[in-house]
Amino acid sequence: MWATRLAERVATRAARVSVVGVGYVGLPIARAFASRGFPVTGVERSAVRRASVEDEAFTLVEDLREVEESDVVIMAVPTPVTSDRTPDMGDIDAVVAAVAAQLRPGQLLCGVSTVYPGATQERVLPALTATGLEPDRDFFLAFSPERANPGGGHFDLWNTPRLVGGVGPRSRALAQQILEQITETVVPVTSPRVAELAKLYENSFRLVNLGFVNEFAQLCHRMEEDVGEVLGAAHTKPYGILPFLPGPGVGGHCIPVDPHFLDWAARAKGTSSRFIRLAAEVNGGMPRHVVERCEVWLRSDGVERARVRVVGVSYKRDVPDVRNAPALAILADLSANGHEVDYHDPLVPELQVGGRRLRSTPLEEAPRADLAIIVTDHSVLDPQAILAAAERVFDCRRMLPSDDGAQVRYL
Ligand SMILES: NC(=O)c1ccc[n+]([C@@H]2O[C@H](COP(=O)([O-])OP(=O)(O)OC[C@H]3O[C@@H](n4cnc5c(N)ncnc54)[C@H](O)[C@@H]3O)[C@@H](O)[C@H]2O)c1
Repeated sequence: MWATRLAERVATRAARVSVVGVGYVGLPIARAFASRGFPVTGVERSAVRRASVEDEAFTLVEDLREVEESDVVIMAVPTPVTSDRTPDMGDIDAVVAAVAAQLRPGQLLCGVSTVYPGATQERVLPALTATGLEPDRDFFLAFSPERANPGGGHFDLWNTPRLVGGVGPRSRALAQQILEQITETVVPVTSPRVAELAKLYENSFRLVNLGFVNEFAQLCHRMEEDVGEVLGAAHTKPYGILPFLPGPGVGGHCIPVDPHFLDWAARAKGTSSRFIRLAAEVNGGMPRHVVERCEVWLRSDGVERARVRVVGVSYKRDVPDVRNAPALAILADLSANGHEVDYHDPLVPELQVGGRRLRSTPLEEAPRADLAIIVTDHSVLDPQAILAAAERVFDCRRMLPSDDGAQVRYL
């Protein structure tokens, strides 16, 4: 009965949708439901975030308790790992407790935050069944991992297929129905755990392949061979290979974090993921490798203490996000080694490195650097301006044309 009622409310777009966490993931979801005509409330605890999305076509509140009635609650809060790489479920637990406190028959909770395998069934579900309501009959619970790719171009919320698993068939079907309002293809799987594991496999796949290509770049360097040419040659194979490129390390909120959920869950089962650990170690060593390569170059030119400029500091091309960005480790390492550092990134006006606050230096005003390191190749960066303001450029992204190592060298 409750399932039928909710299905009707979704079909008529009367279902009230609350999106908890209006960040990188939650904001597009809230916008999409609002644009399809659903009454939407964004729940966002950060006043700064709330202020930045005030003009949206949905209501915005600070706390889920302010929302009188929701038919559907989408949970899009952060899921970091602690310093010992244990999943930090604090935000999820807080939202689930708030949902449980107001749970009424006919509601659907759908998590989209990346979580460890089993979290929906073993952690979220018991908190909701403790209310006395029956899962998959009175209330509905599902998990649908987010695949957002910030700055990713062609793929968006609508045309990126998404997975959904429910704690029962009604939960799965209802979650699929609601998600099909904002995403063209929703792929049902047998349980939330399958969806949780699939998401972790997707991100671990990226971490592991990046780890391998980063190690391969180091091997090629030792062999005095150009890794770019070698990879270009390998990528002419039309099957059985995927093009991963080396870089200065991995950053952001997903690739350096989520695979550890899988390793953590494996440890709970008395095993571990050797691939994830190894890849994390190799990728984590890349900023150091970049600094070492730069210092060898400077020393070979007789420069011990240099003025070094990092160009592009966010973790990814064309996004302003600096979470876990390798540029932070590179800047910190260079400073610790006694170099004078500055940075240039039109997308990131200010940056906190170690206890210091740095400001992006416009290239036309910048003093000439002994070395510039291109860490992130935003499309707005001007190659000529970078070259004009530095004696040498260490290009981690092959943004500049080759000059056989005269002024430009590659990772
Ligand atoms: N950013 C991405 O590209 C991406 C891609 C795929 C999956 N994910 C996953 O999606 C989840 C969210 O990531 P994000 O990048 O959107 O994070 P984010 O930090 O940009 O946004 C999360 C928001 O939730 C808010 N919040 C936390 N607890 C709250 C509460 N109790 N009530 C109200 N608001 C609360 C925070 O203030 C923040 O604004 C994470 O699990 C992440 O791993 C992110």
